Amino acid sequence: MDLHYGSSQAVRGASIALRRGEVTAITGQSGSGKSSLLYCLAGVLPVANGEVRFEGRLLGELDDEELSALRRDRFGFVFQYGELLPELTVEENTALPLRLAGQRKAPALAAAGEVLGRLGLADLRDRRPSQVSGGQSQRVAVARALVHRPAVVFADEPTGSLDSENAATVLKEFLELARSQGTAVLLVTHDSAVAAQADNRYTMSDGVLTAREQGAS
Ligand SMILES: Nc1ncnc2c1ncn2[C@@H]1O[C@H](COP(=O)(O)OP(=O)(O)OP(=O)(O)O)[C@@H](O)[C@H]1O
Ligand SMILES: [Mg+2]
Repeated sequence: MDLHYGSSQAVRGASIALRRGEVTAITGQSGSGKSSLLYCLAGVLPVANGEVRFEGRLLGELDDEELSALRRDRFGFVFQYGELLPELTVEENTALPLRLAGQRKAPALAAAGEVLGRLGLADLRDRRPSQVSGGQSQRVAVARALVHRPAVVFADEPTGSLDSENAATVLKEFLELARSQGTAVLLVTHDSAVAAQADNRYTMSDGVLTAREQGAS
């Protein structure tokens, strides 16, 4: 598949499959097209010269409402830039995907509390995002991406603003939880130590995606 922004081409002939229970990492320099590819796979941006399928269905053939429902109910997102809602508590932020899917407040908050507990954040659940550390808020974003047990999680630099020790901890929790839920994880990262923990690895360079041998560093 390709992606163009006007006359410039951000993704060139990329081909990739994500499988449930597997983590796929993409590394590459800033501006190489990693986030752009992620947005194509998640049905956020439409592709040119190719197609994206989810459970056999072509995303390009879905109408806006079907695509929104798919993203909301079946996909989880950890965005490159922090995005917790400041007026909601940690627990309410985490419960958001369930609330958007129409679940009642009590069970949604209970499910959020459970995921927060698994990520070591139970004590923070009544705080606002401004009252937790940067690393804690990244873990909350991870909890929110997993709370509705999505089929696919798209994680764009989920450990971006963390030191290497915290990044390793967050990543380990994230991957264990995702794997135990049978989630397909797409992990975009600058960090080769993070990428080394993935089942499948790719690099992106100037819009071109290349698979890497397992075991290569
Ligand atoms: N909305 C946009 N309109 C036009 N050009 C864009 C847009 N978004 C990204 N680009 C360009 O497309 C190219 C790929 O950008 P992208 O955000 O996918 O890179 P990236 O690999 O995610 O970089 P980073 O590691 O810095 O996040 C860059 O040259 C960027 O400037
Ligand atoms: Mg990016």
